[in-house]
Amino acid sequence: MNPRPLASVAYEGETAVVTVANPPVNTITAAVRAALAQAVAEIAARPGLKAAVLLCEGSTFFSGADIGEFAGPPKEEEYRRLFNSIEALPFPVLAAMHGTVMGGGLEIALACHYRIAAPGTRFALPEVTLGIIPGGGGTQRLPRLIGVEKTLELVLDARPVDAARALELGFLDAVVDGDLRAAAIAHARTLAAPRRTGEMKVDPATATEAIVARFAAEARKRYRNRQAPLTAIEAVRASATLPFDQGLEYETELVNRAKATVESQALVHLFFAERETRRVPGLPADTKPRPVAKAAIVGAGTMGGGIAVCFANAGIPVTVLDADRAALDRGLAGIDAIYAGMVKRGRIGEADRAARMALIGGALDYDAVRDADVIVEAVFEDLALKARVFAALDRVAKPGAVLATNTSTLDIEAIAGAVSRPQDVIGMHFFSPANVMPLLEVVRTSKTSPETIRTVMELARPLRKTPVLARVCYGFIGNRMMEGYAREAERMVLEGATPREVDSALEDWGMAMGILAVFDLAGIDVGVNVHKANADKYPPDPAYYQADFALHEAGRLGQKNGRGYYRYEGRERIDDPEAIAILAERAAKLGIAPCRHTREEILERCLYPLMNEGFRILAEGVALRASDIDVVWTSGYGFPRYRGGPMFHAQSIGLATLLDGMRKYRDRFGPMHWEPAPLLVELVESGKTLADWEAARR
Ligand code: NAI
Repeated sequence: MNPRPLASVAYEGETAVVTVANPPVNTITAAVRAALAQAVAEIAARPGLKAAVLLCEGSTFFSGADIGEFAGPPKEEEYRRLFNSIEALPFPVLAAMHGTVMGGGLEIALACHYRIAAPGTRFALPEVTLGIIPGGGGTQRLPRLIGVEKTLELVLDARPVDAARALELGFLDAVVDGDLRAAAIAHARTLAAPRRTGEMKVDPATATEAIVARFAAEARKRYRNRQAPLTAIEAVRASATLPFDQGLEYETELVNRAKATVESQALVHLFFAERETRRVPGLPADTKPRPVAKAAIVGAGTMGGGIAVCFANAGIPVTVLDADRAALDRGLAGIDAIYAGMVKRGRIGEADRAARMALIGGALDYDAVRDADVIVEAVFEDLALKARVFAALDRVAKPGAVLATNTSTLDIEAIAGAVSRPQDVIGMHFFSPANVMPLLEVVRTSKTSPETIRTVMELARPLRKTPVLARVCYGFIGNRMMEGYAREAERMVLEGATPREVDSALEDWGMAMGILAVFDLAGIDVGVNVHKANADKYPPDPAYYQADFALHEAGRLGQKNGRGYYRYEGRERIDDPEAIAILAERAAKLGIAPCRHTREEILERCLYPLMNEGFRILAEGVALRASDIDVVWTSGYGFPRYRGGPMFHAQSIGLATLLDGMRKYRDRFGPMHWEPAPLLVELVESGKTLADWEAARR
């Protein structure tokens, strides 16, 4: 076993070179901190040294702190001792960086006296995305180096900056070409004396009330309902008023306060949840993914085009097949427009655009998909049509090709019934716009083979999707949970709440977009068609979906014709008395009496059924784990990440609160829609947590 030390010290004349190797990304684990502390002690005691270099082996300099430690006892004091001991060394210390330097990784570099980096190195302080603040001295050292204003820019933006920007901001001394170690040693030899960030003074011109107030206002707007960004501002601001040591202590106090928030626990929960989704219990350990060198899409519509872009972005050649010449041309033009938009926004250059477009071909004949390893069907939502497409694919596709469908509502078991190789059939449910939304629901049938599942779960990586595995049921995970949520929103506008009242309550709470505005965006006709085609799947409630039906019958299709739940000028939503009158008229016809709704009621009636359905989905095994459900809703449906997802949220409000809420509305509206999920009842009555239940099931 190992033997490669985590930190090793070499001497190049009077320069010490400390090298850390903790693959894959040099996370600053407890063991790394211990090894580093030992190396620092060694070089501190070595007589005659004139300089030291700190660098990392492998793909990157320290990528950041060990997020797994967040749940345990606070580690900041230990970080502080280590970083202070580096800063206190009596000779110049140089950090030589490459790769992606984040959080604690950048803070360690700030404790060094000088910093250089290889071209292409990226830097970030992403702590606020985890609901915390930099806790390794970053909020005190960085402002001393570059000022409060630029520090706040970096901390609140949370996204990486490149080496050129780091030079400009002033926390990087040089970008060096060639061998980093050699360049670092040469650079270190030119350094005369230590330059300790902790001994510098913050430039007061960068820390005025006006500057701080501007950032606070921006943070409130950009990070609705969030605490961490404001806490970060408080910490950074303190660097201008407190002596360095006190500033560090204050930072520790604030970071520990931040870690105790639901916001931080929710965001850390999702960080791990998103990494867990690929793990599929029950697949034989030796199940290998099949290689995917070529792909094909059937149906060049909205979804087909977006999915083709995902493959081309991943460097996988893809053929787009349509039955209709005009539809194919429209589809290819749509793909071209997606890339034009990316170039316009500076996301990619012209050369990338050309290279990616070159990977995409159009076809009208099934012969063109013969050699594809994965074929994704995205034709109209019609079972008979899809069955015909799959029968055709069965005739031409090579053995072992994955035959995937992007259906949202159809029975994939039935689609698989159209082929002689149902083990290769699987759902790949992308979300619109497919090239943007990170979620991929992967839906296995009773016959899907382990290899097919593994292939698609792994294919999600290059496609840059977060795959969540589901079993076949109406609506899979996400849309099935949307049913009750949408049903209540529609019911409340029939009861006289305005669309604005419902949507604002949801948006102020944190949903990316109110559900009625979502319907306008997606097209009222789309929802109506789905509900007409699946009438047998819904409970016998005469009011069900009647808000959508009424608007549709009045010719209101949503944004596409400028009228839906709202009226639209461009994308701007305007309250529309005409829509409200249509809803009132339908309500009167249905005998629904008007009533007033508090914000609390709007939220409860929308969110309780949504969470309740999650418990059914879990108990039925449609989702593998509660955290997968959270990933579905935060990455596909705009559920606020800082609330952790529906299942996390249910636990944070208390399962008993949810159960009582379901019963309260059952008493008012009857059991048809408000029966609490048996699993929820079981957990509350037995006093068990979801985690207990999941552990017992494993
Ligand atoms: P769309 O109507 O934009 O595109 C469908 C395309 O399929 C058209 O270009 C049509 O010419 C083509 N097509 C029809 N019959 C064909 C055949 N026999 N062979 C080859 N091509 C054929 O539809 P959209 O919105 O892209 O939806 C496609 C699928 O994706 C549906 O199953 C839908 O339920 C699903 N879906 C749609 C989402 C959305 O937001 N639009 C989200 C997730 C899934």
